[in-house]
Amino acid sequence: MKLSATTLTASLLVTVIAVLLIIPMMLQWERPPMDSTQWGSRGLGMEHIVNPRLAEKLKEKNVLPTPDDPVPNDGKLVKDDHENYKNVQVLGDLDTAQFNRLMGAITLWVAPQDGDNAGCAYCHNTDNMASDEKYTKVVARRMLQMTRTINSTYKTHVAETGVTCYTCHRGMPVPANIWFTNPGPKQAGGFAASRQGQNVAHEPIPAFAALPYDPLTPLLSKPGENIRIVATTALPEGTGGDVRKTETTYALMMHMSTALGVNCTFCHNTRAFSNWQQSRPQRVTAWHGIQMVRDLNANYLGSLANVFPPNRKGPDGDVAKLDCATCHQGVNKPLYGFSMAKSYPELSVPNP
Ligand code: HEC
Ligand code: HEC
Ligand code: HEC
Ligand code: HEC
Repeated sequence: MKLSATTLTASLLVTVIAVLLIIPMMLQWERPPMDSTQWGSRGLGMEHIVNPRLAEKLKEKNVLPTPDDPVPNDGKLVKDDHENYKNVQVLGDLDTAQFNRLMGAITLWVAPQDGDNAGCAYCHNTDNMASDEKYTKVVARRMLQMTRTINSTYKTHVAETGVTCYTCHRGMPVPANIWFTNPGPKQAGGFAASRQGQNVAHEPIPAFAALPYDPLTPLLSKPGENIRIVATTALPEGTGGDVRKTETTYALMMHMSTALGVNCTFCHNTRAFSNWQQSRPQRVTAWHGIQMVRDLNANYLGSLANVFPPNRKGPDGDVAKLDCATCHQGVNKPLYGFSMAKSYPELSVPNP
């Protein structure tokens, strides 16, 4: 066969285009070798695969500040010192020395370290510490109550490890992983009007898949039912879920896996997703986590709707909410299970 110059040029062009397309794709791939750990019985494929190079980077991101040394008590409770503490509604039972140590710590954990509003001034009018004029102070007071609720009533999830403000905030006023109800892109009316939230490339939920882009509003913003989509009878008899529920559930499951840096087999035996007996104990911990997140969003963040200024609200006017990634940040136990809460026991007492 004789190749004409045009055919040659054309095939060369096609090759060049193909290579140019493949290079960016390859940049997304993770190269071997990978580490793998077997989690389930042999033959079930319940393995955890970790890229050791990415794991190193994750470790660097999860370094925590050294907790302040304990300080001796002053022997005086905040609620008995009316001269220096005029408007303390949550922390009244603290010794004054412990109170001041905690104010120092939350400044480091939450407040910006430079700029006009750095340090104590992020929450306080420093000429009148008792004043509630800054919304950030009102939010912080509710956050103190929220942290105590997490550590005292959700031990089924956070165990004795617990959390501090740092678990979510990491030295920033607004945590890195928050979300708002997503109204979706504007689109044509008529038959095209509802795409059921699908086919909109959206990061990080659900990882660019064609699944609904806002599974969190129905599933993590308010107390709700247990998630059951796998049919329990041979024929559809109203058990299990409809297709829409199934898609939202899968989107949530992908969010949970990404938030913890794991795959489905961290919790499930994938031969029977719904079966609790065949699941790992971590799935039960996750179930309690789902209940906790729903409660915190509805009753703590939700209760601050009139406190946050408009620039902190979402497109639908809702307050920022939290999810699994707010605490976990890519790790199966936030901060690799290191307990900062132990050094600040005042953050683990139940709310009165
Ligand atoms: C992230 C917000 C935040 C930061 C930053 C912060 N505080 Fe506070 N502070 C609060 C909250 C909330 C209260 C009220 C606690 C309560 O009601 O139990 C409070 C109360 C106080 C009070 C009691 C005032 C009174 O008379 O009622 C003092 C004193 C105080 N803080 C000192 C400090 C100092 C000093 C710093 C800086 C080292 C600081 N705070 C940083 C949130 C903050
Ligand atoms: C479970 C996660 C979590 C914990 C723990 C937590 N926060 Fe928050 N915090 C949030 C979320 C979510 C927001 C909403 C973000 C926003 O401001 O839009 C928030 C907002 C705030 C804000 C308002 C910031 C701003 O500029 O609008 C302050 C102040 C704050 N938190 C203080 C605290 C303090 C103090 C503690 C510890 C007693 C604490 N938080 C613990 C998740 C958390
Ligand atoms: C961190 C633990 C965890 C991970 C990881 C996880 N799941 Fe789940 N999954 C759960 C929990 C907990 C439930 C039950 C929630 C409830 O009862 O409300 C559940 C429920 C389900 C169900 C519904 C079961 C039924 O009874 O109808 C399916 C299907 C499912 N998961 C699939 C997946 C897939 C696919 C992945 C990976 C993309 C995954 N899960 C990752 C914890 C997890
Ligand atoms: C308020 C912070 C916080 C939030 C929000 C949170 N977790 Fe956790 N989670 C923790 C802490 C702390 C631990 C470690 C408990 C321990 O030391 O055993 C943990 C542990 C777990 C574990 C056990 C890990 C293991 O290795 O045994 C699973 C599974 C888990 N979380 C899933 C979830 C899921 C799913 C969500 C969202 C629905 C979620 N978590 C939301 C704080 C949180």
